[in-house]
Amino acid sequence: MPSTPLSITSRLPQVGTTIFTVMSALAQQHGAINLSQGFPDFDAPAELLALLGEAAREGHNQYAPMTGLPVLREAIAQKVQALYGADYDAGEEITVTAGATQALFTAIAALVHPGDEVIAFAPVYDSYGPSVALQGGRMVYADLPAPSYRPDWAQVARLITPRTRMIILNSPHNPTGAVWTADDMATLAALVKDTNIVLLSDEVYEHMVFDGLRHESVLRYPALAERAVVVSSFGKTYHITGWKIGYALAPKALMAEFRKVHQFNVFTVHTPSQVALARFMAKPGWYEQLRALYQGKRDIFRQALASSPFELLPCQGTYFQCVRYVALSDEGDQAFVERLTREHGVAAIPLSAFYPDGRDEGVIRFCFAKSATTLEQALERLRRL
Ligand SMILES: Cc1ncc(COP(=O)(O)O)c(C=O)c1O
Repeated sequence: MPSTPLSITSRLPQVGTTIFTVMSALAQQHGAINLSQGFPDFDAPAELLALLGEAAREGHNQYAPMTGLPVLREAIAQKVQALYGADYDAGEEITVTAGATQALFTAIAALVHPGDEVIAFAPVYDSYGPSVALQGGRMVYADLPAPSYRPDWAQVARLITPRTRMIILNSPHNPTGAVWTADDMATLAALVKDTNIVLLSDEVYEHMVFDGLRHESVLRYPALAERAVVVSSFGKTYHITGWKIGYALAPKALMAEFRKVHQFNVFTVHTPSQVALARFMAKPGWYEQLRALYQGKRDIFRQALASSPFELLPCQGTYFQCVRYVALSDEGDQAFVERLTREHGVAAIPLSAFYPDGRDEGVIRFCFAKSATTLEQALERLRRL
């Protein structure tokens, strides 16, 4: 291929290769156990895989409706009614998307205008900033201070201006595992009352909340839900991150705008997966089982490192455990994870990658969505440090 003669002005000049790609490549190069990227190394339930094959063989192989198969939208409507007491119309208020990332991008593209300000909380999931930048919006970051990573609501109040168009929230939170409380939701409701602010709630870890805590979905709170797009991911919930399928819920007028963008972006999502998921969702007990599975893995991880030099930070949800390594090294977090991968055979993500200003607080993130054997081997290596 010849090199292009074109002069290209990047729409995203700050964006390079993500740390997830870098660390996974380094893990592979050194044969390290990869606890960096956030995906399970165990398979989806056999029954779900069988349903996928069955759906394809039954002939569900052509375009699904633009908004998603009615049977799946109905199943989502029933789920949010049963779990959160929320009434969403499957016809007009729910759309099936190609994963949560697409739903987040679509909501931002549909609702953020050039010059609008969007508040998000740092450390922050990496897709929000570039999605807002592509619309000509301006990101404004509120801090989640370590080690509790709780929001500082007084700061959020100061950051809200007449130009604030959107607040993006993410509980349970990647990368910190922090879970917002009912008080957080009440404070947020008071802050946005009588404003024109849209909420974009990234709830992909909604079923991974531990120690008897409750997931405070925006869907539980009508005063929040009436101004919100709520996003979730089947990838996280059913160990199928590679299927790239999720959904968005919003009141009719917001969803109408969302669908205008969705229609010309992906138009429609993989049909057999939708059939399989609709059938699998009818099975009771999955969410409780998922919560118990990940709480068990979190406990194994924490117990194994309890008397190690790593300082375990709180982990109330998600499948991520953050640790401070100050007792082991004064290296920067990126240098530390690279050495951990090369010399000790375990890959992690430096938290500085989640801060727009690259702040390094000596904290790294491990993903514990791994089989018992993988975890045992990784923990054995980490205990030797
Ligand atoms: C906070 C958060 N939002 C969204 C996503 C993306 O979900 P999906 O794979 O369904 O696009 C992830 C995946 O890691 C995530 O951690």
